[in-house]
Amino acid sequence: MNLMRRMQKLPLVCSGLWLFAAGWLGCARVPGVEVPYVQTPSEVVMEMLRLGRVTPDDVVYDLGSGDGRLVIAAARYFGARGVGIELDPALVAESAKIARRANVAARARFLQQDIFEADISEATVVTMYLSPDVNLRLRPKLLSQLSPGARIVSHDFPIGDWAPDRVVNFKGPERTHVLSLWVVPPRP
Ligand SMILES: C[S@@+](CC[C@H](N)C(=O)[O-])C[C@H]1O[C@@H](n2cnc3c(N)ncnc32)[C@H](O)[C@@H]1O
Repeated sequence: MNLMRRMQKLPLVCSGLWLFAAGWLGCARVPGVEVPYVQTPSEVVMEMLRLGRVTPDDVVYDLGSGDGRLVIAAARYFGARGVGIELDPALVAESAKIARRANVAARARFLQQDIFEADISEATVVTMYLSPDVNLRLRPKLLSQLSPGARIVSHDFPIGDWAPDRVVNFKGPERTHVLSLWVVPPRP
């Protein structure tokens, strides 16, 4: 590879290394956290909730809820009830504060729990922005705890080889986001 092409690739390599380092530091901060904290842009949050066909009758669980934005938007703009599951206590406290300010604290709860241990059986819609590996490991829990007809919306990542019912390529402020929807099938 000539010098010019190497120089062109440098910013890409550096940003990749930076993301890796930031992710590693973020994950290392709280034991058990397997995915770094990266926010879903607000336009993408709204599209995920539309894709999940969220209504006031729904209970929306965000697995790895960060600052609570999915749950708060579900309560504020769709009239739903929501629960955020998040291991990082600082993010759980921040979420509760933002929910209070948005006047949706009665419909938006945040639990400091591991997503693999939380009871998600009351959810009618699950949202997640995790990783391919974590999604795959969550699949048995999603299929056993959620009721048939519950919707799952994942930002960017698949759930193993489970074919989604719908995929939307949504143009966000900086890039295109792949949003996938699964509907939990009837029990065999
Ligand atoms: C990519 S962020 C997504 C945040 C938010 N859902 C959003 O879309 O803006 C992933 C979140 O999952 C949390 N997380 C990672 N592993 C977890 C685990 N095992 N249990 C609970 N939360 C976890 C991280 O702390 C982080 O806030």
